[in-house]
Amino acid sequence: MPVMDLIKVNRNKCVKCGLCVADCPACILDMGENGPECNVDRGCMSCGHCVAICPTGAMDNKYTPREEMTPVPPSIISEQQAYDFLRSRRSVRLFKPQPPKQEDVLKLLDICRYAPTAGNSQSMYFTVISNPDTLAAIRRTTADWMAEEVEKETVNKRYFKAVLHTFHEKKVDIIGRNAPMLIFVSTRRLNVTGVSNSEQCLAYAELFAPAIGLGTTIAGFIQACGIAGYKPLLDLVGIPPKQKLVGCMMVGYPRVKYKLMPERQHLKCEFRE
Ligand SMILES: Cc1cc2nc3c(=O)[nH]c(=O)nc-3n(C[C@H](O)[C@H](O)[C@H](O)COP(=O)(O)O)c2cc1C
Ligand code: SF4
Ligand code: SF4
Repeated sequence: MPVMDLIKVNRNKCVKCGLCVADCPACILDMGENGPECNVDRGCMSCGHCVAICPTGAMDNKYTPREEMTPVPPSIISEQQAYDFLRSRRSVRLFKPQPPKQEDVLKLLDICRYAPTAGNSQSMYFTVISNPDTLAAIRRTTADWMAEEVEKETVNKRYFKAVLHTFHEKKVDIIGRNAPMLIFVSTRRLNVTGVSNSEQCLAYAELFAPAIGLGTTIAGFIQACGIAGYKPLLDLVGIPPKQKLVGCMMVGYPRVKYKLMPERQHLKCEFRE
């Protein structure tokens, strides 16, 4: 007998195709005599696959109600368009001085909610900073961390030394690219897949940004400093208690356009028996 009210199946509509059972990532659905059943009271990751895959509209799930779902639009993008769209994404490092409007930032981050996260955990928290003094302090603090890494002779020593030369001696902001805004991503300290989840979310933002007039670049040095848990940076950003920093992205309105899409290294792949 089913033990919980997680799913609701319209038995008149269900054709017992078994797709919902086979596709459930948590493997918590079973095929009973009268159609799909759920026999455990935990483990649903609210992914909505069972509802979305049902060919007859028979399945519903209390965590991902059918009525809140949106139909998948008919495919309007060709293979070539998809290829060109992905390939034309570029890191933008030359920004107009004004920070992006809040409404544009919200659009940018909203799409991140649809990126994949491990176990559909979705627990990304965004901190948006555009105060010029705070941005400058973040860049300086990241440089301080890099100097400490050089001092400690870590593997990054040579690379960081060169970066610090550019930053301090040449006075070029190789760390923050004078971006008018930084968006930090944090998540629960116990979330072991936090960095990977953040990467997925930021990839969505980077791909969506040009459609709303924004440019982005992953702020790798600042991000690395935060992921290393450098306290002065965490304090500056104001990472909430019980959270850890897992990502950082520069954002602004681009003041340049790219006319060409460069070639990359050749594909490295082998098929094994
Ligand atoms: C993890 C990661 C860290 C990065 N860190 C920086 C950075 O600190 N500064 C920067 O200017 N670009 C940074 N980038 C952007 C890469 O340099 C860029 O993606 C690469 O050169 C390819 O260029 P494209 O993004 O324009 O195609 C980073 C990218 C990734 C994925
Ligand atoms: S929402 Fe996802 S995890 Fe939950 S029962 Fe449906 S398919 Fe399984
Ligand atoms: S996918 Fe829909 S029709 Fe198929 S078994 Fe599940 S509820 Fe029934």
